[in-house]
Amino acid sequence: MTRRFRRLSRDSAPHLLDCLLNLGRCLIQTRIARVMAWWWGIEMGQRSAFYGLPLFRRLPGSRIQVGDNCQFRSSRWSNLVGVNRPCIISTLRETAALDIGKDCGFSGTIIGCASRISIGDRVMCGANVTITDTDWHAIDWRDRLAGRPGEAAPIVIGDDVWLGMNVTVLKGVEIGSRTVVGAGSIVTRSLPAQVIAAGQPAVVIRKLRDYENLATGANSAVQECK
Ligand SMILES: CC(C)(COP(=O)(O)OP(=O)(O)OC[C@H]1O[C@@H](n2cnc3c(N)ncnc32)[C@H](O)[C@@H]1OP(=O)(O)O)[C@@H](O)C(=O)NCCC(=O)NCCS
Repeated sequence: MTRRFRRLSRDSAPHLLDCLLNLGRCLIQTRIARVMAWWWGIEMGQRSAFYGLPLFRRLPGSRIQVGDNCQFRSSRWSNLVGVNRPCIISTLRETAALDIGKDCGFSGTIIGCASRISIGDRVMCGANVTITDTDWHAIDWRDRLAGRPGEAAPIVIGDDVWLGMNVTVLKGVEIGSRTVVGAGSIVTRSLPAQVIAAGQPAVVIRKLRDYENLATGANSAVQECK
């Protein structure tokens, strides 16, 4: 049986002190971030935790909804894989709607929503992921000069999707439930459920098999198809 608690020793002291420090920071920053969310009119679920302070910007009239028990990591110390910016969650048009499910994790994640972004439950975003449903700027230089906005198209991300570090998800894309997207990928076209996809642009490299209905019942993890 694995031991759940470490004994304090010279070997374990740095780790234990770091855990305590991070817990303290998280408790304080969660309170501040929840006030920030309230100030920006964000519908925040219960028990979300904030490690470092995110940036929220909700345009009047638009909606940002976050489910219960989500984690937002915005500080460098909050994720050892290397968070290099805070989480930035914003809506860019009055008609925008951003819905985030429960039990999701975000590390230095940027979500910029001009149309509609729907993120399912238990979605994990690795360090420095960007999800945006708009080009932000128009393609034609005359439109940019005239101040017309870029194109926008909804994004839907299914339950239990895992986006690796530095993934970018662009406008008009659907990612099926349980799909894994490899580090550094750029998702420009929709991806089916339950696959591993990677590359620029991201393409399916492997299908996954779901063991959750197998008689063993012990392993509900998604596994590679043989
Ligand atoms: C997606 C991932 C989990 C797949 O791992 P895997 O199943 O062991 O995949 P493999 O290493 O066997 O690679 C299979 C093929 O996909 C390619 N591939 C894998 N990841 C890739 C990526 N991120 N970008 C481009 N191609 C990739 C490999 O080059 C290989 O191609 P080949 O068959 O032509 O040689 C892994 O590649 C990955 O990206 N891990 C990082 C996850 C991460 O970001 N973690 C931090 C979270 S904060």
